[in-house]
Amino acid sequence: MATGNNLSVKLGQLEFANPVIAASGTFGYGLEYLPFVDLDLLGGFSTKGLSLKPRIGNAVPRMVETASGMLNAIGLENIGLEKFVNEKLPLLENYKTRILVNFFGDTKEEYIEMAARLSDVERVDALEMNISCPNVAEGGVSFSSGPANVSRVVAVARQATKKFLIVKLSPNVADITETAKSAEGAGADALSVVNTHIGMAMNLETRKPYLANVTGGLSGPAIKPLALRMVYATARAVKIPVIGVGGISVAEDALEFLIAGATAIQVGTANFIDPPATIKIIDGIRAWCQRQGVKSLAELKPR
Ligand SMILES: Cc1cc2nc3c(=O)[nH]c(=O)nc-3n(C[C@H](O)[C@H](O)[C@H](O)COP(=O)(O)O)c2cc1C
Repeated sequence: MATGNNLSVKLGQLEFANPVIAASGTFGYGLEYLPFVDLDLLGGFSTKGLSLKPRIGNAVPRMVETASGMLNAIGLENIGLEKFVNEKLPLLENYKTRILVNFFGDTKEEYIEMAARLSDVERVDALEMNISCPNVAEGGVSFSSGPANVSRVVAVARQATKKFLIVKLSPNVADITETAKSAEGAGADALSVVNTHIGMAMNLETRKPYLANVTGGLSGPAIKPLALRMVYATARAVKIPVIGVGGISVAEDALEFLIAGATAIQVGTANFIDPPATIKIIDGIRAWCQRQGVKSLAELKPR
């Protein structure tokens, strides 16, 4: 088939119609975007991070716009696993798009239970494990804080599920290739690179940190070069597929990540600015491939 019509990519055995996935926390549970996006045109979407029990999240203000980006400290507000499976998922049953369920836990045991329970849910195509959360049982040290912690938490989730397991890495580490290799060694099927960068903003009126949580995660175009560097390095350090995420707003951004070594990409903050951004990115990738005579995205490699 001529170039532009086939943008399919494979992450391991899992095929996606195209490489564009809406990122966790910026696309609700998919349903919220129905007025703007035909879900079946997407490669897939990742749900807001789910936990065993519902969470109300952090105090407000918990979002602030910054130069070329935003800070958020939502605090992982979500409706909880049960409500998602019973009330949201049935409404998504007839869409073809890939559904990634992003999940997290406060303890290793919660990661195990989430992975095990999601294992039995047929409509879920893949699990995306967010490890950038403080481990409550071990004094709040983040699961993502070092290769040994990453290895421990990924290994137990791996044992609990046969579903395609994506581990989402934090950029807030000394060397992301080390945590990437740990996740791969512990059985991850793919990696999402990366989550938000920790930052802060001051409110000049109150002379206090703008966010009630003091710090927040920086996302949007501001982090694109940082994320791209990490994707490039990670794709060379591991054999499993890498999903590039960070500041992708237009097709050209997505193509930079694909050429750098990502097999697929995610679009986050751009969904807030332009709700149909994902669809425009797919169209733009297709048009670029047609112009360049690219027959398969697998051809995209750095020259
Ligand atoms: C408001 C908001 C909420 C987010 N919630 C989650 C989450 O629940 N789980 C997760 O793994 N990542 C979460 N993220 C991170 C994004 O999925 C993405 O990794 C990050 O924003 C970088 O991509 P971007 O620059 O395209 O937004 C969130 C980001 C934002 C802006």
